[in-house]
Amino acid sequence: TSRAFSTTMLREKDVKNVTVFGGGLMGSGIAQVLAHKGGYNVTLTDVTDKALTGGKTIMSKSLTRIAKKQLADKPAEEQEAYVKKIVDSVRTTTDAAEAVKDTDLVIEAIIENVGIKQQLFEFLDSKAPKDAIFASNTSSLSITDVAKTTSRKDRFGGFHAFNPVPQMKLIEVVKTSETSQDTFDSLIEVAKKMGKVPVACVDSPGFIVNRLLVPYMLEAIRLVERGDASVQDVDTAMKLGAGYPMGPFELSDLVGLDTLSHIAKGWRESRVSTGEISEEIVKESKLLEDLVKQGKLGKKSGGGFYPA
Ligand code: CAA
Ligand code: NAD
Repeated sequence: TSRAFSTTMLREKDVKNVTVFGGGLMGSGIAQVLAHKGGYNVTLTDVTDKALTGGKTIMSKSLTRIAKKQLADKPAEEQEAYVKKIVDSVRTTTDAAEAVKDTDLVIEAIIENVGIKQQLFEFLDSKAPKDAIFASNTSSLSITDVAKTTSRKDRFGGFHAFNPVPQMKLIEVVKTSETSQDTFDSLIEVAKKMGKVPVACVDSPGFIVNRLLVPYMLEAIRLVERGDASVQDVDTAMKLGAGYPMGPFELSDLVGLDTLSHIAKGWRESRVSTGEISEEIVKESKLLEDLVKQGKLGKKSGGGFYPA
């Protein structure tokens, strides 16, 4: 059958063209590492040219740090040329249909909203080659839900990278009950080619890392809301008392307060009634919501709990 044929075509060796959706913090980082370390042909897509320019700026800044270390003994022009070559190799377009015309793999890293992700994947399902693999970088949504609007549930999985992508070594590869073994293996191989360490997880809330990290960040906010300690002292405490590289507020600012708020809201709406997440953990926080309303989204927006 064509389905059997398409799965045999899906082995990792066939993944050459990768399309990344979302030129924000995560999408630009994933695109950068796919091109730089993985040697893939990468297309980065967003809804506006401004967002794509922003994505290229994030890549340039990160690669400049890398070039300064790796080519420390080379002149500045050589370092700049190295950065430019990689950044220029990432094709950008706002035309989603065109971006997936010849794609082997789509990695989605857009806003953490299930309806918007489903809408995008439904559209892409009708435009991308039938044998292309779809993957979502969602932090907290059900991959099964995100895949619902597509006709390729066997070629759909989670591919969850961490922020900052060039630095963090982990990729969580998520298999739903319908993800085929070939698709799962292909995603594992892509993660390895990116120089990352893949771990496997079933399609459960927050997978491994966020199942533990999100309740921790939200509890830190509640601790400060109760007046138990200051933002600064909580961060100092967790760095010096628990050996974490960042405190929970520095980490929240890095993740993005809008993203953290979307995760908590999504879990409140769909994971509490199922008994997967307890209500106390995802209770709405006034402190977090007020910052988001003021546009204080963290590092990416010029400040959150801390000034940028
Ligand atoms: N690109 C390239 N290089 C970078 C970089 C970037 N974006 N960010 C940092 N670096 C490099 C620096 O150049 C530096 O290199 P050298 O040590 O060789 O000089 C190195 O990384 C360390 O950077 P810094 O000295 O500036 O700072 P640091 O030692 O504190 O490390 C960090 C920075 C790696 C971000 C570290 O603080 C850390 O691990 N923080 C925790 C991050 C974390 O937990 N991320 C997960 C968030 S949750 C998530 O992502 C999931 C989700 O779905 C929400
Ligand atoms: P971000 O706000 O930095 O970027 C999101 C980008 O998606 C924006 O540029 C936006 O214009 C774009 N976008 C929105 N709708 C789109 C559409 N229909 N088509 C194309 N582009 C669209 O967000 P982020 O932090 O990069 O998060 C993206 C995804 O990655 C979310 O699902 C988030 O949960 C997940 N994630 C975030 C982190 C983190 O630490 N921030 C870590 C791992 C995973």
